[in-house]
Parts: sequence; C-alpha cells; structure tokens
Amino acid sequence: MSAYPKVAQLKSPAMLQSRLAELGIELPVDDRILTAAEGSPLAQSLAIGGFHVGNRWCIHPMEGWDANRDGSPSPHTLRRWRHFGLSGAKLIWGGEAAAVQNDGRANPNQTLATPENREGLRALLDACRRAHREEIGGDNDLLVGLQLTHSGRFSRPNSKNLEPRIAYHHPLLDAKFGIDQNDNSVVWTDSDLERLVDAFVVAAGVAHDVGFQFVDIKSCHGYLLHEFLSARHRPGRFGGDLDGRTRLLFSIIERVRERYPDLMIVVRLSMFDTVPYATSKEVGKPMEYRGLIPYEFGFGVDSHNPLQPDLSEPIELIRRLRAARVAAVNLSCGSPYYSPHIQRPAIFPPSDGYQPPEDPLVGAARQIQAARRCKDAVPDMPMVGTGYSYLQDYVPHVAQAVVRAGWIDAVGLGRMVLTYPELPADSLAGTKFERKRICRTFSDCTTAPRNGIVSGCFPLDPYYKELPEAGELRKVKEEDGAIAEA
Ligand SMILES: Cc1cc2nc3c(=O)[nH]c(=O)nc-3n(C[C@H](O)[C@H](O)[C@H](O)COP(=O)(O)O)c2cc1C
Ligand code: SF4
Repeated sequence: MSAYPKVAQLKSPAMLQSRLAELGIELPVDDRILTAAEGSPLAQSLAIGGFHVGNRWCIHPMEGWDANRDGSPSPHTLRRWRHFGLSGAKLIWGGEAAAVQNDGRANPNQTLATPENREGLRALLDACRRAHREEIGGDNDLLVGLQLTHSGRFSRPNSKNLEPRIAYHHPLLDAKFGIDQNDNSVVWTDSDLERLVDAFVVAAGVAHDVGFQFVDIKSCHGYLLHEFLSARHRPGRFGGDLDGRTRLLFSIIERVRERYPDLMIVVRLSMFDTVPYATSKEVGKPMEYRGLIPYEFGFGVDSHNPLQPDLSEPIELIRRLRAARVAAVNLSCGSPYYSPHIQRPAIFPPSDGYQPPEDPLVGAARQIQAARRCKDAVPDMPMVGTGYSYLQDYVPHVAQAVVRAGWIDAVGLGRMVLTYPELPADSLAGTKFERKRICRTFSDCTTAPRNGIVSGCFPLDPYYKELPEAGELRKVKEEDGAIAEA
C-alpha cells in the first residue's frame, strides 16, 4: 500500500490545491476547465519554426514495443498513431522513438527509421493525419514529426538481453546493468560515431520524404545522446567539457540541416538527472554514491548533491540549440530505467522500479518547475512540458494555468493518451470527462515491455484487456508478487 493519498481521492481542484500546499509545492490549479469557446489558454495557437500549431496540447512520443521484427508497424502500432491523431492535440512530438539503425533498437520490436521501412513510416503518419481529419477536422494546423533514436546503453536489438553500446563507463549504471568496467568493446569509438551521424542523416531523409514536418533528435531518458551529455570522463572529441559532450548532438543537427534545409529539427531533452536508484520491492533508494562526490556522472545534477538538479548546463545547452536554429525543445528528465519516479511519476511502480520515495505529485511538480526555469532563461525557445499525467483528473486545470502564466508554451501528455486519447479534445470542447478512462499510473504499460510483452494500457483499455498478452502480464506480476489494486 502506498503511503500517499491517491489523486482519485482528491475530489475537487480545491482538494488538490490543499494537498499541494501541504507538500509545500507551488503549482497553479484552475478551479474549472475552460473550453476553447471560453478562451482556454490551451486553445491558442503556437508558432514553432514558422508553423502555426493549432493549440497548446502536445502528444509525447510513446513507443509500444509492438512493431514487426522488420521495423514496420503492426496493427497495435497503427492504432496508437490513430489515437495520437484523434486526440485533438495539434502537436504530435515524434510519435514514438524510431531507431536509426538496428543495433540501436531498445527492443527487437522497435520501429525502424530506415529506408527499408519507408512505407511503414508513411503508414504511421497517414494513420495519424487521417484520424485527425476524421475526428477533429482540418489538419492544416497539425504538426507531426518523428523521433529518431539510438538506445545506446539500453539497446536490446535481438532479445530481452542488453547489448549495450555506451558513451563511457558509468560506475553506477555499469554495476546496475551488469557491464564489466574493463570491457571497452561496448564503448563507441569516435569513428563509429561518425557513421552513426550518417545514419541519423539517412533516417531524417526518410522522415522528410514521407512527409514528417520535423525530426526530434532524441536526447533524453538515458539513451545514447542523453548519455553523451554527461560523458565528462570520455577522452577525445566527444567527451570532456560541454563542447565535447554536445558535439555528437550538434554534429547530427548540422548534418541534417545541411542535407535537408527545409526540415524542422527539434530536441527532446532530459533537462536534469539524478543518481540511479536500485531496483527493489521497498521504498526507492539511490545507489551508494557518496564515494563519488563531486559527482560527475549526470547531466543537470548538482555535483555536490546529485539528488538535486542543477540547470545551469541544460539552460546553456538550450541557448546553444536556439542559436543552432533548433525549432523547439521538449523537456523531460531522468530515465525510466534507473529513475522512473522522477521521469514518469506513478503511485504503482513498474516491475523493475521501487515503491515511490516521494509523493508522485512532488515528481510531477519538479518537472513543471524545472521547465519553468528553462523557459524563464530562454524565453524565445518554444518549450513543451512533461510529467503531467500524474495530475490525472486535474491535468487540464494545471495545464491551462501554467500556459496562461507563461511557465511553458505547450503541455504534453504521455501515459494519459494510452488510456484516454480524447482528453485534449474533450477538455477543449467541454465534454464531460470519462473518469474511468483516466490514467491512474498503474505502470503496466512499463511493466509489460520490461518483460518482453507489448506495451499498452492493460488495466483500463478494453483492447489490451482482451489480448492474450493480458494473461501473460498477469502471470508475470503474480510471480513478481506485484499485482496492483486496479
Ligand atoms: C509506454 C511508454 C512508452 C514511452 N515511449 C517513449 C518514447 O518512445 N520516446 C520518448 O521520448 N518518451 C517515451 N516515453 C516517455 C513519455 O513520452 C513521457 O515522457 C512520460 O510518460 C511522462 O509523461 P506522462 O506523465 O504524461 O506519462 C514513454 C512512456 C511510456 C509510459
Ligand atoms: S497502464 Fe494505463 S493506467 Fe497504468 S500507467 Fe499505463 S496508461 Fe496509465
């Protein structure tokens, strides 16, 4: 049983406000949801790279571990992209992480952004745009991009087993994920990285050809480009100081821009990190880090207290991205593999996580506040905020208030879209919320893929409830002793 009150028990915005006050959290909460007709701040358009995005709702990238082995979409993948389209959000930030080459897949069923999967990517984009036209109306103000990735340390291209390709040996992550500190065969060479840049350019070209309006060069969640941002101990051109650690990211941006000047480029960034947490059935605890102070193994962390963010380098990076004409950033944090409580705050942990070490409202607010500080520091960079799904019934109450206050330009939704994709459209139209479809952060959409099962909302979405995989997931959870009260 969790030690924290569930959001579903907070029966009104006022009760959420008083819980936030109890926790000492500053977060604006409107008393009621405003519709578009009533002038909701979320109904305003937003300029990104010269394009007028029709509203302030964004759908975050969400992969489903459900593509075919050749990287082409399965019916599950197409359904998810249709849901993104019919959500009513006018910014579809990348759809899902698509690997630029096979060895960078986070699982053997990750979508591939390669020339061989050109038609598959076209089908995803078409599914999204068609659903938007059918359910919402015109799509002239809908901006859709593709997220490009290499999974780096978390690559599993062939099976459930990790086949890591790392930026540098990280003392805690190597220990947590069983990497031999002396095995340099898993560390990227500079010349391999040059070839990786080529693969990103090829992938961007495929996205451009099939009609995606932007590519997101994914730099978050512990994957390769995020790991490079903390590669202080890596010798050579791609490590060391901030110039070196960001060289790979900027090389990709420059090469894509040079080859496809009319393709917009955006970046999803983990704006801060923390010390990796140990997997456990108990309340989460950071791995032992006290012998590693000053801590040099995270991006956006205070080296003297690495459990605390330090946004000075991330803000400097966002300034440099702005100067490199990156059109927007999407601000996330941490990693689902070693710090899920900060990255996707949840009352029920995934199977490879731990019991929440803080009220998940604290985690949601941490992301919102950190994004506010980035926005204050670089006001002319369009920014999308993350971590809102935990606010559950009150996502729109907070989203419209923070956009009105200028804390962020657009609000993104991740898990909520798996259960209740129409939430943005319903809030703008004033349609009564379907409370049964609100994400209650059961984390099955994370537990399933951690056990080689497709991702989806098994507890609340009838489509997944009825799949044979639902039985498989139940068995895994029973064996793990982790059946959440649904
Ligand atoms: C099942 C699942 C798949 C995800 N896939 C991606 C992904 O492909 N790319 C990405 O940048 N983030 C991915 N995320 C993270 C989400 O985009 C989002 O940052 C996170 O869920 C927190 O937002 P939320 O509180 O609205 O869920 C995924 C999250 C989940 C639960
Ligand atoms: S499984 Fe469903 S309810 Fe649970 S976190 Fe994922 S989307 Fe939310």
